[in-house]
Amino acid sequence: MPKVKTRFVCAACGYVSAKWLGKCPGCGEWNTLEEEVEAPAAPAARSPSPLFRPQPLSAIRAEKFSRFSSGIAELDNVLGGGVVPASLVLIGGDPGMGKSTLLTQVAGFCARERKVLYVSAEESAYQVKLRCDRLGISEDFSLLCENDADEIAALLRTEGYGLAVVDSVQAVYTPRLSSASGSVGQIRECANVLTRAAKASGTAVFLVGHVTKEGAIAGPKVLEHIMDTVLYFEGEATQNFKILRAVKNRFGSTNEVGLLEMTEQGIAGADPARLLLSENRGKSAGAVATPAMEGSRCMMVELQALTVPTVFGLPRRMSLGLDHNKLALLLAVLEKRGGVKLSDSDVYLNVMGGIRVNEPSFDLAALFAVVSAAKNIAVPKETAVFGEVGLTGEIRAVSLPEKRIKECVSLGFERVVLPKSNLKSLAPYKNKIELIPVSHLYAALKTVFGE
Ligand SMILES: Nc1ncnc2c1ncn2[C@@H]1O[C@H](COP(=O)(O)OP(=O)(O)OP(=O)(O)O)[C@@H](O)[C@H]1O
Ligand SMILES: [Mg+2]
Repeated sequence: MPKVKTRFVCAACGYVSAKWLGKCPGCGEWNTLEEEVEAPAAPAARSPSPLFRPQPLSAIRAEKFSRFSSGIAELDNVLGGGVVPASLVLIGGDPGMGKSTLLTQVAGFCARERKVLYVSAEESAYQVKLRCDRLGISEDFSLLCENDADEIAALLRTEGYGLAVVDSVQAVYTPRLSSASGSVGQIRECANVLTRAAKASGTAVFLVGHVTKEGAIAGPKVLEHIMDTVLYFEGEATQNFKILRAVKNRFGSTNEVGLLEMTEQGIAGADPARLLLSENRGKSAGAVATPAMEGSRCMMVELQALTVPTVFGLPRRMSLGLDHNKLALLLAVLEKRGGVKLSDSDVYLNVMGGIRVNEPSFDLAALFAVVSAAKNIAVPKETAVFGEVGLTGEIRAVSLPEKRIKECVSLGFERVVLPKSNLKSLAPYKNKIELIPVSHLYAALKTVFGE
């Protein structure tokens, strides 16, 4: 192999250096020099080669790409209806989230109909085999425990795989660069090599990506630009319930989310109603159910609140799953507009199931939970609540009320407290469920807790 020359280029100002430097002499920035393969300079002026001819759009036959199922309906849904051949999908997520588990299952399922390659750069063949045995995967697929990206790309080009999994993009490297695997230059170059091979061979490639402490996919942002689809695997590591979210999708909407559950038999589609709603709701004070939108999906979420007398001077406000500034703001509105004093109580609020929300429709449900806890009056089990609360105490309309009501109806709720301004579009549901429209916080609280 001819020796490949590399150079170090500053990502901020473009300064070129033959060796790595901590500080860029060009712009003075630290840690911006990245290694890249030096391309031979292009000849100044020449006529285009006959191979590179642009063609008119009308001459291109757009065959409808035939998607295939990954075997996990929720994943298909997030991808926009199945796996697209010759596409690159990046799945990012915290350690232990179940990325390898998910993709092992996908590899097993797809191996029934097409040639599948599973590249494990992080785990040994023994570990992958053990996982397959645990998950009960009996289908045969090819396993490669190597991390040379150029070799993987060559395999993809010659072997005609229908699907390939590379676990993970941070662990593969190309020997053409001297930097360590996982560095920005390496990740970019490996992703490029794999992209070209996938497009040339028609193989759908799933890449696993690690995330940084801040939660972004580790490595350069260009990695996300190269990919066709970028998915994030979210959820608390200790909770079984996980959310698969598309942040970029060239073949479908990014509004779709997949709800998954980690079980002993592997990852499967989850039933959020069973996981998120407790049986005790309606019996004990402080619990309220509210329909929440996750992308274009609606799921019922339970909020629980607890109030206890403050021991020290300053009352504590703590929330899990909801921004604590938001909680402080809502409690201020409750005191001023709802007539409930909590200045001598600590308030704790929790969104059950490790779900994190930032939807305004939670406002009213959060306040219902807090008042229920403070007054020790349980909100009836068949009652759901949603609506945004303004600083003046008015209840404002939220998006997609039809979907929320539909979910309430399907889960057997009998009563919904909702913003009056959302009522217009809900005529078809009038005889299926009792709708209680409210326009002010005080009136809303009165419907359940009385004066
Ligand atoms: N025997 C088991 N029974 C049930 N669940 C298990 C078992 N072994 C592992 N798990 C679950 O599988 C998860 C690990 O899955 P997996 O290895 O796919 O994660 P990952 O996202 O690939 O992690 P990493 O980033 O470290 O590679 C663990 O969180 C654990 O909950
Ligand atoms: Mg893994």
